[in-house]
Amino acid sequence: MWYNGGMSKTEDIVSLCKRRGFIFPGSEVYGGMAGTWDFGPLGVSLKRKIMDAWWKYFVEDREDIYGVDAAILMNPRTWVASGHVDTFNDPLVECKSCHGRFRADKLADGLSESVTTEEFLATGAKCPTCGKSDWGEIRKFNMMFSTHVGPVSDDKSIAYLRPETAQGIFTNYKNVVDTIYPSLPFGLAQQGKAFRNEISPRDYILRDRECSQMEIEYFVEPTTWEENFEKMLKAQHDFLENVIGLPADAIHEEEVAPEDRAHYSKRTVDIEFDYPNGREELMGLAYRTDFDLTNIARESGKSMEYRDKNTGEVFVPHVIEPSIGVERLMLAVLSAAYAEDEVDGSTRVVLRLPELLAPYKFCVSPLLKNKPELVAKAQEVYRDLRAKYGNVTWDDSGNIGKRYRKQDEIGTPKCVVIDFDTLEDGTVTVRDRDTAKQVRVKPEEL
Ligand code: GAP
Repeated sequence: MWYNGGMSKTEDIVSLCKRRGFIFPGSEVYGGMAGTWDFGPLGVSLKRKIMDAWWKYFVEDREDIYGVDAAILMNPRTWVASGHVDTFNDPLVECKSCHGRFRADKLADGLSESVTTEEFLATGAKCPTCGKSDWGEIRKFNMMFSTHVGPVSDDKSIAYLRPETAQGIFTNYKNVVDTIYPSLPFGLAQQGKAFRNEISPRDYILRDRECSQMEIEYFVEPTTWEENFEKMLKAQHDFLENVIGLPADAIHEEEVAPEDRAHYSKRTVDIEFDYPNGREELMGLAYRTDFDLTNIARESGKSMEYRDKNTGEVFVPHVIEPSIGVERLMLAVLSAAYAEDEVDGSTRVVLRLPELLAPYKFCVSPLLKNKPELVAKAQEVYRDLRAKYGNVTWDDSGNIGKRYRKQDEIGTPKCVVIDFDTLEDGTVTVRDRDTAKQVRVKPEEL
């Protein structure tokens, strides 16, 4: 493993994120709500920076991918056409002894989502709550949250919270083609909330009931899907390793077996990451064929065909879909960044976040907060840096050692300290988060 943690490392990350205002349990004041998480001031900053980096890399810096932002509530026919009403199921099993309900494929190794009752019973799995092995039949449990739209709650008013952002893209495919006339191959990207009634939300922010996805539907000419799949896979690695800064040796590809693929996919490669608790899916890349556009055409009666401007050929494009959960990426970033090392003879916790993602670029402090001339000079440097970079924080609490420890835990790359020499020669002390080394520079050289 590339990281130096063990089972306890997730707990260390959970504790740091709570202590420093990154992530709190959802509705904590009322005792929480399983599978939901709230992001505090530093967490929302990190989350936004991750989402912005993705948007810049895949949308702004490319000429062939455009953004959309569709409504979360969609006409329920969407989920009939997409197959989610019939097939978005997890295998649910109930312990007859304590009545605990679990996802069967997660109770023993080597089981797939399509596990049968016989296969499950043959594993001899024990109930995680009461330890007995007294199981009922496996049932299919649909993971979509349903609600009612409007003042009447009946079968006609039912709607679903979207379980993937993808359908908001597919249902706008024709709108985009008819308004901006893009040529194939082209992609539509969306970021936003998705909701899944997970049977067992787990592993901190890895499997939530409410999460955020970043998805692209990349429309291609059918015969070119394989080359576009490979290009998209390469782009994912480039983004994760060179933009987000995840260690390449902690990222793995897993070809998903046909029986484990989603109902719409003819090929899926999962990109997995070595999280502290073990290797888990970080994101997926799927070849969705023309499954979605063809089903939308059938359900809506509207044509989803594309006319090639050069050849005049008419066909339904095929789709390559990279899909990643923001929280899973955030947990990967936090796991890779979290470290404990020794500085000046004592152990410290440090978040070695890439500069691009760190909530603050600089922290500015006066050496002593009761010396007005130091505070005034520090305020001047702070205001200048804020005007230049925006994300700069001020800290004059405790002593300088405590401030450094706090900023190390937050992941601030540089601490800038104004002391009596600053008043003499105009230089400031800059202390580096990763090496704890200090140098003196002029503020304008920062
Ligand atoms: N549109 C395709 C799709 O939604 P998926 O494999 O079900 O495919 C894609 O989900 C990604 O969304 C996953 O790889 C993961 O990063 C994220 N994701 C899915 N369910 C999640 C959950 N319950 N909590 C957090 N992230 C989730």
